[in-house]
Amino acid sequence: MAGTPTPEEMKKIQSSKWYPKYHVAPPYGWLNDPNGFSWYKGEYHIFYQYHPYSVNWGPMHWGHSSSKNFYEWKHQPIAIAPGALSEGHEWYDWDGCFSGCGYEFENKLWLMYTSQKFNGPGGVNSSANPSGINPSGSSGGGNVTERQCFAYSEDGINFTKYEKNPVIDIPNDHPIIANIDFRDPKIWDHDGKYYCVIGNRIRDRSRTQIVMFESENFFDWKFKSVVAISNPDGSEGTMWECPGFAHFGDKYVMIISPQHVPPQGRLYHNIHQAGYMVGTLDYDKGIFTHGNFVTFDYGFDFYATTMMKNPEGRYFIIAWLDMWQSPFPEQEDGWSCILTIPRELKMREDGVVVTVPPDELLELRKECVSYDNLTLEEATQLEGVKGDVGELLFDVDLKQTGDFSFELRCSDDGTEKTVFYYNAAEKYFGLNRDKAGRDQSGVREFDLPELDVLQFRIYLDKSSIEVFMNGGEYVMSTRVYPREDSLGIRFVPTSGKMVIPTLKFYPFDL
Ligand code: FRU
Repeated sequence: MAGTPTPEEMKKIQSSKWYPKYHVAPPYGWLNDPNGFSWYKGEYHIFYQYHPYSVNWGPMHWGHSSSKNFYEWKHQPIAIAPGALSEGHEWYDWDGCFSGCGYEFENKLWLMYTSQKFNGPGGVNSSANPSGINPSGSSGGGNVTERQCFAYSEDGINFTKYEKNPVIDIPNDHPIIANIDFRDPKIWDHDGKYYCVIGNRIRDRSRTQIVMFESENFFDWKFKSVVAISNPDGSEGTMWECPGFAHFGDKYVMIISPQHVPPQGRLYHNIHQAGYMVGTLDYDKGIFTHGNFVTFDYGFDFYATTMMKNPEGRYFIIAWLDMWQSPFPEQEDGWSCILTIPRELKMREDGVVVTVPPDELLELRKECVSYDNLTLEEATQLEGVKGDVGELLFDVDLKQTGDFSFELRCSDDGTEKTVFYYNAAEKYFGLNRDKAGRDQSGVREFDLPELDVLQFRIYLDKSSIEVFMNGGEYVMSTRVYPREDSLGIRFVPTSGKMVIPTLKFYPFDL
């Protein structure tokens, strides 16, 4: 891409075949992690890792969108640019502005981000990639110093880098924290103090840890503790990116995005994972005592979760609805990657963490096609139930149903379809992308307990499918790149019949 697209070119990009209608996507160029998710002056703000100069990852900027309702997103100007490309030529983020958080303090919106500075040859034109694609990148080579910095705004749109940056700068000889692979800060407050957690890989690179800092005044940060650390056997990954804490009463949920977790049975077949651990946080000792890692998503494309708490005290997460090393065929149209819908993060009475589409999205429901008491004995398409932008809800009565599947984005000639399937004997659920469209293949599966019913709530948006099951206890997300006229939805009893007590389809008029 040569320079900023003209308004006409931009319009063409944003109306191209796979561009979403209600998800966050870049106006043009490349997007990865969501950043700085916050509520400020009456709007939600989401920032994202952004490379405006090409459709590939490159020196990271913070792109920005805002919304009052989680589905109408407005593109805003770039919030932060790396020093080499910004007017101030700041030394500390010369090579990029990596992920971080947003926090309102004294009426200003503060963004804390990780600055990138190459120590040797390399620099802003290097193709170093943080997620291990290129071994000279920050995850592989160790020639980049990562520090934590602030930018602030009084209007939520125009940001100024803080004069005293960096605010967290770890010396090379620090006994506990290595200043390479030291990124993605998340701030919260508790009992009148400010806390910040940051992902880190220990100096000999054998383990990853989350380190916690503390501040009385929001600007001077002191290292407090290693709040959590991975198993030495590598089974929990090589680097925990994008940490954060939510709490529900005295239970804390630590979100993390672990790189390179080895596959375990049906789980962890993506290159990187995103999920959480539940436990208790001892603020005096600075230690999080926790249970096992649980993934947020069993599909192909979900990474770098970030979280926010709105003024009503509701927690929301949002993630990159893509994955490192995936194909991104939308690049031919001048843009790459989208974010997930925001999900409300909740803890059920029984302590199980669920993520559910926020009620705000119910406003998208207008027209409704509904069916009751369906007993299907053969593959069926239902009148009025088809499309690529909308919400599909249905229950399957497992007591009366054998193996079944349903297929989304089907072409009339049967050559394209994204298939979701349930195996009743072995009790697992899966997703097959072999015929989903351009450039993709493979399956993702996960085991289910004994259940009477599977409840589906599915969001479709041009090139994405997000399947929420049983109140958000299980979710599968994927990008798909079918032809524009592959709009069919089929329900397929594969052994015996398929009993669907209720079904509703809401095509969205966007
Ligand atoms: C996660 C990540 C973050 C980093 C950012 C760089 O996908 O590697 O750790 O801050 O991407 O773009």
